[in-house]
Amino acid sequence: MIITEKLTKKYSGNFIALNSIDIKTSKRITSIIGRNGAGKTTFIRILSTQLAPTSGSASINGFDILKNTREIRRSVVSIPQEASLIGIMTAYEQVKLYLVARGFSFKEAGDQANKALDELDLREFKNSPADTLSGGMKRKVFVAMALASNADVVFLDEPTTGLDPISRLEVWSAIGRIGSEVILTTHYMEEAQQLSEDLILMDHGNVIEHGKPTELLRKFDGMLRAETHEERNDCIKVGGTFIRYIKRDDAEKYISRGFTIKQITLDDLFISMGVFLES
Ligand SMILES: Nc1ncnc2c1ncn2[C@@H]1O[C@H](COP(=O)(O)OP(=O)(O)OP(=O)(O)O)[C@@H](O)[C@H]1O
Ligand SMILES: [Mg+2]
Repeated sequence: MIITEKLTKKYSGNFIALNSIDIKTSKRITSIIGRNGAGKTTFIRILSTQLAPTSGSASINGFDILKNTREIRRSVVSIPQEASLIGIMTAYEQVKLYLVARGFSFKEAGDQANKALDELDLREFKNSPADTLSGGMKRKVFVAMALASNADVVFLDEPTTGLDPISRLEVWSAIGRIGSEVILTTHYMEEAQQLSEDLILMDHGNVIEHGKPTELLRKFDGMLRAETHEERNDCIKVGGTFIRYIKRDDAEKYISRGFTIKQITLDDLFISMGVFLES
């Protein structure tokens, strides 16, 4: 369980990257969603004790991030967004070494590394040097480390960015099998909606929504999204598209006016709040 109280981070020049965040997570998988620069990585780095907050406090399973740094580092695994592997070492060697460094015996580390790499469909590439792996495969090696780590809490910063659709599914299914509490960031709303019981939507250093996907979408009950490419001043403009939320019963009326009708997705939470994701 993660609890934060007024957690704030100002970078040099007094830029506020996290603005007094109060949250409590206790679900198995929590997804943090937000556009570039929202503060997701800053948040994860502070919780995993890689970065100190400017003010406020946070705890993970009762351990304070400032006072119990050692306990947190022992019980938490954090896979950074820009993590890179050692080029000449094989996938198997890296996962094994990582586990040994976390206190596993050589035998246990080897067994767990094998199991995790198999599970992520990296069997064929186990003995290939990291330099010869594709970007997506490299991301999967990191997820294998988290999967095998047995940590209480795992932070994954954009584990599926840059993966092809199949690899992405494999990674998400592997994340579903991690026994730990998982906090991940993603730009893929659909996946977050499917995999997590808990969603945190961030923007400009603020948590703008937090809850179960189904609960967050409740305000759209009985509604649809109508969109058109024609300029309209009664719609929300997103790029070249003009969007409004309509009652289901009004769908025909909007179709006849040239609108296209779509089902509500998590994207609509952002759009309705004036926050637009890039992808
Ligand atoms: N070391 C730093 N010094 C100054 N400003 C920083 C630093 N790191 C991040 N920032 C700023 O803080 C804000 C939040 O950055 P952060 O990396 O947490 O966003 P993010 O939500 O992870 O974005 P992305 O989706 O692009 O990874 C951004 O405006 C960024 O420019
Ligand atoms: Mg980030």
